Amino acid sequence: TMQVVHSIAELRSRIKDFRRTNDQTVGFVPTMGYLHEGHVSLLRKARAQSGLVVLSIFVNPLQFGPGEDFERYPRNTEKDLQLAEAAGADLVFMPSVAEMYPSPTRTTVNVTGLTARLCGASRPGHFDGVATVVSKLFHIVQPDQAFFGLKDAQQIAVIQQMVLDLNLAVEIVPCPTLREADGLAMSSRNVYLSEDERKQALVLSQALQKARDFSLAQASFTSEELEELVRSHISTASLADIDYVEALAYPSLEPFDNSHHTSSIIIALAVKFGKTRLIDNLILQVR
Ligand code: PAJ
Repeated sequence: TMQVVHSIAELRSRIKDFRRTNDQTVGFVPTMGYLHEGHVSLLRKARAQSGLVVLSIFVNPLQFGPGEDFERYPRNTEKDLQLAEAAGADLVFMPSVAEMYPSPTRTTVNVTGLTARLCGASRPGHFDGVATVVSKLFHIVQPDQAFFGLKDAQQIAVIQQMVLDLNLAVEIVPCPTLREADGLAMSSRNVYLSEDERKQALVLSQALQKARDFSLAQASFTSEELEELVRSHISTASLADIDYVEALAYPSLEPFDNSHHTSSIIIALAVKFGKTRLIDNLILQVR
């Protein structure tokens, strides 16, 4: 049966016990909770590939900027634990902020370059907070594999770069974005949307789908063409306030001029509906 652990020392001792008596792998799914089917899909993938499945639930203050939603980030521990158990988690790590940050952090992880654009540009310091907490969690759990969703494609690129640069002994496993039946990417933040905002938020996945169709119909295309197509569709929603729409090479996140010159392209977007900022993306294999 699933165990819930709040202290770093206890988590370490349970994982050590597992390692002593098994030669199976440890799979890790880091989250901020308020679990939905997207998180569950990561847990299922971990369950299928690992001997021990560790889930962390921690709303990390370090990755929220001033005026962002740290205080009101949604929480529902009871439901999270039900979903986690049903998906086959073995150990759930739920530390307090004081357990993770007993004193102000003087050591942070900063991944340069990859964080200059997209969410890195609109949320200064965000990816330092992500890389720092994920690095801490990797040192605490010491997983063989860690499972991340492509919904946060820039986050995966940043974590993969950190693993490479710091020689971390963990394999990053990217997993597909799960969507609601109508196409909206699942997110813990969808709960903030009003009925009207939720309806209009459909333009995001629709716009990305239009970009995919366009790219398949063209011999080659520019980033500006893709961005313009996506922007103009999003603009049909009166409540949509575009933060960014960008087409870049993936996973380098560098600009490209012509699709002939790159093999994978990401079209990434962040759009606010009222107070709620939603992100989505699509990765095109060009050749
Ligand atoms: P959180 O937003 O809770 O997401 C946890 C994991 O679930 C991430 O890897 C994210 O990409 C994945 N995920 C979210 N929505 C998804 C969807 N619709 N389909 C598939 N996967 C999805 O990302 C974070 O937390 C934090 O930044 C964290 C890595 C835990 C560090 O604090």
